[in-house]
Amino acid sequence: MKAMLSIADLERAARKRLPPSIYGYVIGGAEDESSLRANRSGFERWAFVPRPLVDVSKRSQETELFGRRYASPVGISPMGVTSLCRFDGDCAMARAAREVNVPFILSGASTTPLEKVASAYPGMWFQAYVPSKREVIGPLIQRVAAAGIETLVVTVDVPIASVREIEVRNGFSVPLRLSGRLVMGGLSRPRWMVETFARTLVQQGIPHFENFTATRGGPIITATSGDHRAGRAALCWDDMRWVRDQWKGKLVIKGILHPDDACNARNAGADGVIVSNHGGRQLDGAIAPIEALPSIVAAVPDMTVMVDSGFRRGTDVLKALALGARFVFVGRPAMYGLAVAGERGAVHALKLLQKEIDLNLALLGCPDTAGLSKAYLHCSSASGYSS
Ligand SMILES: Cc1cc2nc3c(=O)[nH]c(=O)nc-3n(C[C@H](O)[C@H](O)[C@H](O)COP(=O)(O)O)c2cc1C
Repeated sequence: MKAMLSIADLERAARKRLPPSIYGYVIGGAEDESSLRANRSGFERWAFVPRPLVDVSKRSQETELFGRRYASPVGISPMGVTSLCRFDGDCAMARAAREVNVPFILSGASTTPLEKVASAYPGMWFQAYVPSKREVIGPLIQRVAAAGIETLVVTVDVPIASVREIEVRNGFSVPLRLSGRLVMGGLSRPRWMVETFARTLVQQGIPHFENFTATRGGPIITATSGDHRAGRAALCWDDMRWVRDQWKGKLVIKGILHPDDACNARNAGADGVIVSNHGGRQLDGAIAPIEALPSIVAAVPDMTVMVDSGFRRGTDVLKALALGARFVFVGRPAMYGLAVAGERGAVHALKLLQKEIDLNLALLGCPDTAGLSKAYLHCSSASGYSS
């Protein structure tokens, strides 16, 4: 782990560990991957304006969110089928987040019963992919509440499946179809075959989708690829209001990119939104969340606005907080860590970001993340200082 100095180092190591088709599933973006690139280049528009001669000998990045105090403003975004990257991936991610004291959002496309993951990290959040059928959503919400989970995230940017050509070329699909390319790729990574594939089969059997609905779903390996997203295309704001009535805990809507939709989320009774383009994996060409963030914060100043997509450095996190985000989530960085060294690797990814946040707070001349504001940023497409 010592040689892993940055998230980019972890990404390179993950590439060597994972079969190419699974690595492609993790890194890939939709179609031409223009949103994927924009998620990174969006940060470059903002430059820091450091303030010297400020006492930065003591620094803090502790952040309160929905009544809990976390060690850092960076948590783990929901990601499906983490068990493809590492044995017991869902619980390993949860334990990593718990160890570092940051939020972890379990994906609805996960393969470990949510009750089991919640016992590894009782404070975890759960992300649901809800179909428009209320007779299916209702029992799922009851199940999540019965597990003691207090924050429900509903992802709204996947009405239907996008096309990620890297996955099609690699013969990868969810559920997995055992294609020749998939098998050959697995054989090219013997360590993954033993530590992840074989260990999962021997100790846990074929993973199933455990949390799409209130009851156990099908296995992730099938002869044909089915659309587990069926029924979501008809989902609308009325359904969100209905979910709000059913769910007594905190409700977060993930996948918001327009200020009016942040207002719609607030009007539907949501407690927070995650500004996200799904890491560039859904609508290609969708605006980068870091670009959309300022106008969303301005539209719902009373709401908890969080953001993900493209965060790889502590400085990226500082920029988002300065633009008004309350919290940042990362997806792939944690998955790279998981692929390289399981729980220890995910902890390393989170700690790398925390270390960079701490160091750059000092260099910026702002001792506390709570004190960040636009006064520390200069927008390269505007003239003068934006304080
Ligand atoms: C492999 C992978 C699987 C994902 N699965 C889900 C999912 O099941 N539910 C969801 O809401 N978002 C999912 N996402 C999107 C992430 O929650 C998050 O929005 C995105 O990864 C953030 O971008 P980043 O990876 O650049 O940090 C997934 C992302 C990746 C990379």
